[in-house]
Amino acid sequence: MPKKISVAIVGSGVMGGIHGKIAQQSGAASVNYVVDADLAKAQKCADLHRATALRSIGELAGKNVNLAFVCVPNNHHARVAIELLNLKLDVFCEKPLATSAADARLMIEAAQVNDRRLFVGHNRRFAPVYLAAKEAVRGKYFSPQSINMIQNDGDMGGEGSLWAANFAQLGGFLYDTTIHFLDMAEFLLGPIASISALSRSCCYPVNDNFTIHMQFRDSGSGVISSCGHASWIFPFERVQVVGDHQAVITEELDEYRHCPGLSRAIDGKTYAKLAFEEKWGYVAMHTHMYDALASGGKAIHDARIGLRAVELVEACQKSATSQGAFIDVAPA
Ligand SMILES: NC(=O)c1ccc[n+]([C@@H]2O[C@H](COP(=O)([O-])OP(=O)(O)OC[C@H]3O[C@@H](n4cnc5c(N)ncnc54)[C@H](O)[C@@H]3O)[C@@H](O)[C@H]2O)c1
Repeated sequence: MPKKISVAIVGSGVMGGIHGKIAQQSGAASVNYVVDADLAKAQKCADLHRATALRSIGELAGKNVNLAFVCVPNNHHARVAIELLNLKLDVFCEKPLATSAADARLMIEAAQVNDRRLFVGHNRRFAPVYLAAKEAVRGKYFSPQSINMIQNDGDMGGEGSLWAANFAQLGGFLYDTTIHFLDMAEFLLGPIASISALSRSCCYPVNDNFTIHMQFRDSGSGVISSCGHASWIFPFERVQVVGDHQAVITEELDEYRHCPGLSRAIDGKTYAKLAFEEKWGYVAMHTHMYDALASGGKAIHDARIGLRAVELVEACQKSATSQGAFIDVAPA
């Protein structure tokens, strides 16, 4: 039997808990260390896996660890991931890869210098609903012309004690969930050539309301509408891709519908009953990562897609400060 990958979870909150559970259940990995600035939290999570709780990353030096999951607030990602890479660990970093493209590049450089792998948590690339949408949209008979995407938060400010309600720790509103949809836009329709954004501060003291316009290199244009004050009415996230008398619609990570043409039966799939960890793509993302580590093969969620998503966020922020001027983001 192949040896299990020895895992450290860094940041034992919501996502640390989810990744720890999936890693442990995968059969390919074993959670042996949990690191958290709050040692009591680390201990609680470590107890679930009979792992060792630590307060600082430095304590992982010399320990038997292969892969670390970075699940700390956004503004700590770069520093924490680089420290782990310098300890010669492979690293999975939750999204956003970093809160600036400059930091994201430093992380990729650290992975290269240390000859380690760096993955990013763009889990929607593995979610069944978006895989179904991609298959239809990229199919032989679908010629995508426009994409309309909504991704909202109910109350972004949340409770003051949450780090995600602290926009400095978040890195800005777009780094919360909208970054997933900038990535999904390219996943579904290919590279964005130019992008423009208008933003306003509506309910919070930061820009919490964005309208993003995308021109795709190969196929049409699209819009992302995203705000942090939508209440919690469903759906928070919705995608509609329209082609030549065809359309694909997704709602949340639950529902998929495809109209293949005028007067044709609509094909529908529901993923609502799947376990949350499967519906959101986390389980498939773990399996893919363990395979990539074993084979040395390319990973779908390589850090470079994380860097690209951060570059798109920065382009939106830049455009928003110049009344929505289009920014060239065509990949070289
Ligand atoms: N991909 C997704 O679906 C998804 C969903 C939610 C959150 N996230 C991302 O996951 C990350 C974690 O979010 P969360 O909701 O789990 O947060 P959380 O607040 O539940 O947990 C964060 C943990 O990190 C610890 N921590 C803070 N700074 C630390 C440091 N410097 N060193 C060690 N520990 C530290 C905190 O004590 C806390 O236990 C964020 O980057 C967020 O953007 C991704």
